[in-house]
Amino acid sequence: VNLAVKDEGGNKSSPLLYGIMFEEMDRSGDGGIHGQLLQNNGFQGKSLGMTAYKSVGDVDISQDHSKPVSKAITSSLQVAVPKNATKFVGFANTGYKGVPVKQAKYKSSFYMKGNYSGTVTLQLVGSHSGTIYADHNLTVKSSDSKFTPFETSFQSKASPDGENEWRLTFDGSKVAGNSLNFGLVQLFPPTFHDRENGLRDDLATVIDKVKPKFLRFPGGNNLEGVKIDSRWKWNTTIGPVVDRPGREADWGYPNTDALGLDEYMQWCEDMGMAPLLGVWAGKSYGGILSGEELEPYVQDTLNELEYLLGDSTTTHYGRLRAKNGRTEPWKLNYVEIGNEDQLTGGCDTYPERFNQFYKAIHDHYPHITIVVSNADPSCLPSQLPKNVILDVHFYLKDDQIVDKFNQWDNQPRNQSVMVGEYGCRNTTQATGVYWSYMRGSCSEAVYMIGLERNSDIVKMAAYAPLLAHREYISWSPTLYGFDSRPDSITPSTSYYVQKMFATNKGDTVLPVSSSTGFGPLYWVATKTDSKYYVKLANYGSVSKKVDVSVPGTEKGKLEMLSGPEYHGNTPMNVKIETITMDVSDANGKYTIHMEPWAVAVLAVS
Ligand code: AHR
Repeated sequence: VNLAVKDEGGNKSSPLLYGIMFEEMDRSGDGGIHGQLLQNNGFQGKSLGMTAYKSVGDVDISQDHSKPVSKAITSSLQVAVPKNATKFVGFANTGYKGVPVKQAKYKSSFYMKGNYSGTVTLQLVGSHSGTIYADHNLTVKSSDSKFTPFETSFQSKASPDGENEWRLTFDGSKVAGNSLNFGLVQLFPPTFHDRENGLRDDLATVIDKVKPKFLRFPGGNNLEGVKIDSRWKWNTTIGPVVDRPGREADWGYPNTDALGLDEYMQWCEDMGMAPLLGVWAGKSYGGILSGEELEPYVQDTLNELEYLLGDSTTTHYGRLRAKNGRTEPWKLNYVEIGNEDQLTGGCDTYPERFNQFYKAIHDHYPHITIVVSNADPSCLPSQLPKNVILDVHFYLKDDQIVDKFNQWDNQPRNQSVMVGEYGCRNTTQATGVYWSYMRGSCSEAVYMIGLERNSDIVKMAAYAPLLAHREYISWSPTLYGFDSRPDSITPSTSYYVQKMFATNKGDTVLPVSSSTGFGPLYWVATKTDSKYYVKLANYGSVSKKVDVSVPGTEKGKLEMLSGPEYHGNTPMNVKIETITMDVSDANGKYTIHMEPWAVAVLAVS
């Protein structure tokens, strides 16, 4: 195949095109990218009971509803010590099926109530081996009149496996025949950009390498709520974590909301992403509100926006943000009204609900670009305001995705779109349900080439879902996975496609003349100034020799991802990853050998 990249003409390409979508599911946040490693740490929600807690020594432990830590953290852990106690006793938290223990400095905190003066010992211990990786004493003075917070940090050695627990013990002889209560236990490894209550550095760094341009959050279904009252509520996700009650959420487990609104915004700022905030627009899985009944929720969204954008001295919610530690307003230019309102009975009322939210937001914040939660003509207002973006989602099998290659070629050029969620799901393939495989990832690359060719109107796109703890999967595949073991972070083949595409894109799409039509080979070329990027995908079982000419260039690099059709990366076994080769002295001519099911990017200048 011959491809000749032209150096003139072509459309502008959206600078935001490749981003990410995050919602709390598959323990992607709690137990995932959020740094806190102990599960059920404040008994948030109602459904976990004593999950993750164990007694250490001869004590009885139980959830004590009579001793709340705060209004939000409504119970604590009682440790009842027998009369004859002589040793150190206490409790352990086993994390999310194990605590990942590295050679690193950990921060830990807890609340304590009950009369006790003396040593508390915090340890990181192998649950089965009993090996102690960290052993730290602190001296505390706690009383029966109130919960007292304690915080400390300590160095740990690395555990060879993921079967570890965090232990808190105290001198049982001092409490014999009595009890102590503990609440909101927390353990943090190093965090991304060293933030308080931040992201896990290792899991965040993986996604930072993709250089995503936007973050769509907080869902997804998890924004909507199983019921109206269990929708994602911004104002219960802010301020000190001890004031956040958490919620029974959409994906089968309670959320702590320790990864809350400010933490999402900080995440965006630290990775240079534009935040795309989804706001609840009246639809939950258990009911829909519209008309006058919806007005308080419209006002609630305005409050949320004032919290994010309001002046820190003259506005009520801006002051609250400052009190929570952020004086400067956040930057927010994109808000999505709802999620998938064409589904679950949302269509009838969406046009009216959309208009209510649109008017309120646009009147107060005209700089904000509004995203419509769907693109179903029967679900949209008869007259869409100018400059809104329509959000399209799909999860399909590989061939179906390739069939969508030209989805945007003939769309009106005055209507912007976002593909806010997409991914290849093929649950019948031999590779199983969890991991992406090369043919599927290649189908995504073909589709992304179609997106990039149309990135004058396709403003944003995000593969979804983002990441999963492999012991808690309710949806697969995800872009990357992990568990508690060292080196368990596993990027999927689709991860490498996202990374190659997002880190190699120009600001203008260039015309390409070719010796053949699209399929099974697909391509797109872009440039910024004198830097050119040619993306290729071979969606077929026969290799292809591709001669690419890019006038005026001479050197650069070729990134290539290829592998057997149904092979992917599995935990602790990354077999397929991007290979980078230098290209030089090419005089504008490059010969690329595309293996079957290969994705490549040529970046030259
Ligand atoms: O990404 C998983 C789910 O798929 C999202 O929560 C929802 O928006 C979509 O239906």
